[in-house]
Amino acid sequence: MANIPMRAGGSAARIAVIPGDGIGQEVTPEGVKVLRAVATVGKRSLEFVEFDWGADKFLRDGVSLPAGAVEMLRDEFDAILFGALGDPRVPSNQHAADILLGLRFKLDLYVNARPVELLHERLTPLRDRTEKDVRIMVFRENTEGLYVGVGGFFKKGTADEIAVQEDVNSRKGVERIIRYAFEYARKNGLKRVCMSDKSNAMTFAHDLWQRVFKEVRQEYADIDSRHLYIDTLAMEIVRDPRQFDVIVTCNLFGDIISDLGAQLAGGLGLAPSGNIHPGRTSLFEPVHGSAPNIAGKGIANPLGSVLTAGMLLEFLGWKTEAVAVHTAVKEALLKNYLTPDLGGTKKTTEVGDWIAERVSKTAGA
Ligand code: NAD
Ligand code: IPM
Ligand code: MN
Repeated sequence: MANIPMRAGGSAARIAVIPGDGIGQEVTPEGVKVLRAVATVGKRSLEFVEFDWGADKFLRDGVSLPAGAVEMLRDEFDAILFGALGDPRVPSNQHAADILLGLRFKLDLYVNARPVELLHERLTPLRDRTEKDVRIMVFRENTEGLYVGVGGFFKKGTADEIAVQEDVNSRKGVERIIRYAFEYARKNGLKRVCMSDKSNAMTFAHDLWQRVFKEVRQEYADIDSRHLYIDTLAMEIVRDPRQFDVIVTCNLFGDIISDLGAQLAGGLGLAPSGNIHPGRTSLFEPVHGSAPNIAGKGIANPLGSVLTAGMLLEFLGWKTEAVAVHTAVKEALLKNYLTPDLGGTKKTTEVGDWIAERVSKTAGA
């Protein structure tokens, strides 16, 4: 469980659904299926509105994120369930940058919460590690860094070409994600926060991270806080993941470390995430992408989307329902009711149906 903070706490919510491209279109309906099942049992009212934003629309109409979309999502929806974006027909990835990064930035979703949670010991590639050893919350800064798209080319296409990509870090942006990580640890009884950067090489941008971290940690004397360079963190998290409760890092390093973490807990097919601004419309998506190599085959693992739906339920404050989803996923893993990436033989929809059936028996209990 991710234990993320709640949005409203009411018993009705409006959810925008953006399946996107590739397997996003296959796994997201399974997340919705499970949300519908828990809502019915828990006598909650969930309204879903689907949006067809993605590569098809971009190639057809030239529209990625439609005008007014951000305001509409902000004002009319409590949360967004998102699939994935990325299509070989759009090599620039322009639509994904406009839609996904656009929503992260424009909704100011500064917390990217990516829990790494081993749900069954056989899923980890690490020797002699069990569920209790791999339980880490990764907080990735989600609105700045190398992702902001500041930069340019000089003499593009010539032998003298130069390409510049700026790493933008604000005092406010760094402080709020570091503070969030400490608050999360304190609220959840976790004792250790590790901030990771590359301040030995990135002597301006990550000097700021160092200074802010040193300042903020003073307010959290009850938490054991530590710094590791990102290269060392990547090594240590594999060598002994038991060292970590909460990790906080910048946008790019958080992207990389969350895929590494996903693999320690069974792979990308199982990893959920939330793009959160506490108290505001937030976006929930699996960590994986559109997986063009398996798209259209009906074999994508829907459990990443299902666990993501569980995080969305936590965000709505619907704890019992969130627990029911989490429990059902663990049961599917125990009973081996799984897609091929996890060694099973089931189709995407079969796994989704099975989880929905389970939660409709337990969510109201
Ligand atoms: P990917 O996550 O799509 O796939 C990586 C590997 O993991 C592939 O072998 C894929 O088959 C497998 N995989 C991923 N999800 C799976 C699932 N649910 N079930 C079974 N197997 C799964 O990463 P990629 O191949 O590097 O990128 C493909 C496209 O997705 C690119 O366009 C990329 O930019 C985009 N992408 C989007 C997001 C997002 O929308 N949040 C995230 C990552 C990548
Ligand atoms: C992710 C993805 C995105 C990111 C890409 C598609 C821009 O890899 O959500 O992890 O790097 O944030
Ligand atoms: Mn990624």
